[in-house]
Amino acid sequence: MKTITVNASKTYDINIGSGILDDAGSILPKIGSTAAIVTDDIVAPLYAQRLEQALSRNKTRIVRYVIPNGEASKNAEQLVSLVNFLAKEKLSRTDTVIALGGGVVGDLAGFAAAVYMRGVGFVQIPTTLLAAVDSSVGGKTAVNLEAGKNLAGAFYQPDAVLCDISLLSTLKPEVFRDGCAEVIKYGVIADGELFSSFEKPIKDQMENVIARCVEIKRDIVAQDEFEKSVRKFLNFGHTTGHAIELLSGYEITHGSAVAAGMAIVTRAAAQMKICDDSCRQGVIKILKLYKLPVNTTYDAASLANACLSDKKRDGGKVTMIFPEKIGKCIMKEIKVEELENVIRLGLEELP
Ligand SMILES: NC(=O)c1ccc[n+]([C@@H]2O[C@H](COP(=O)([O-])OP(=O)(O)OC[C@H]3O[C@@H](n4cnc5c(N)ncnc54)[C@H](O)[C@@H]3O)[C@@H](O)[C@H]2O)c1
Ligand SMILES: [Zn+2]
Repeated sequence: MKTITVNASKTYDINIGSGILDDAGSILPKIGSTAAIVTDDIVAPLYAQRLEQALSRNKTRIVRYVIPNGEASKNAEQLVSLVNFLAKEKLSRTDTVIALGGGVVGDLAGFAAAVYMRGVGFVQIPTTLLAAVDSSVGGKTAVNLEAGKNLAGAFYQPDAVLCDISLLSTLKPEVFRDGCAEVIKYGVIADGELFSSFEKPIKDQMENVIARCVEIKRDIVAQDEFEKSVRKFLNFGHTTGHAIELLSGYEITHGSAVAAGMAIVTRAAAQMKICDDSCRQGVIKILKLYKLPVNTTYDAASLANACLSDKKRDGGKVTMIFPEKIGKCIMKEIKVEELENVIRLGLEELP
């Protein structure tokens, strides 16, 4: 088992290993007298009972809240109903909400833990690759509103993260692929050596890859918990990616959209001479190796418009992340009127 300590507004450990779900009772810090497990209807039959057994050894009272799986559950109604459930079960401030699931469960349960009684204990047990490397670390929680994704939320760090990599073996291939897009992102923005390791299947080196991605995110979050500066690097591929998600009415999944977004922004960077052509070729090659998309059918004007409806717009400019080389990115402010041209450069496929 690997343990990575995060020093943000809370200090907490991320434990990564195979089969460690069954040791949850000893690994997790004080979870109080009651633990509310929040999970979805795919993960519950697979893993909830094992977690409950592991925790019951400590004589913890356990209650379970199950949501329908999928992004549609990450909404305000579900948040209110979850908070009401916690109140009905009489959770106190020293008790703990445990998110057992992917990013949807983690974001919803985290937000509920942040607002119920102005904050109760919170533990993340990620069960998707995306949640393991991204959403379970760093303390962003949210629900979607009709006006857009993640529009209501809070920064709320967990008290612990337990990542049992053996749980990822039941993921559908397309859900696993989505997580690979985020993993590839970490290589491009921060670690050339990690990026080279993706030539061998990520599946075969899961513990090391997840640990390295988590360390990168940990280091970024430690410098900039509230996304004023360097945390923006984590948005590599996301400005265009979010636009693709939005235009598709969320039919295209986050990971696929981000993969296409990374390819587009890297091609633009090569055209703008921010990176050289080998960087462009390297990024496209790895994305293709993991069967991730490297372009979109939406045109530059529609994509630019959709980007501008995204909340990361800042006055008359949009902050975009471009690779300088594999392992190093730069942040560049793009004027709103130039955005369409930048995206157009990125849509052009080169040999
Ligand atoms: N908070 C953050 O910093 C942050 C970062 C990135 C993404 N997110 C959010 O994360 C969400 C996406 O997360 P996701 O990709 O994990 O999606 P998800 O939670 O919807 O999970 C994807 C699917 O996999 C199923 N599943 C989960 N674990 C499984 C397992 N072990 N075996 C079999 N099936 C399993 C789920 O039931 C679901 O159907 C989005 O809402 C996104 O906004 C948050
Ligand atoms: Zn993402």
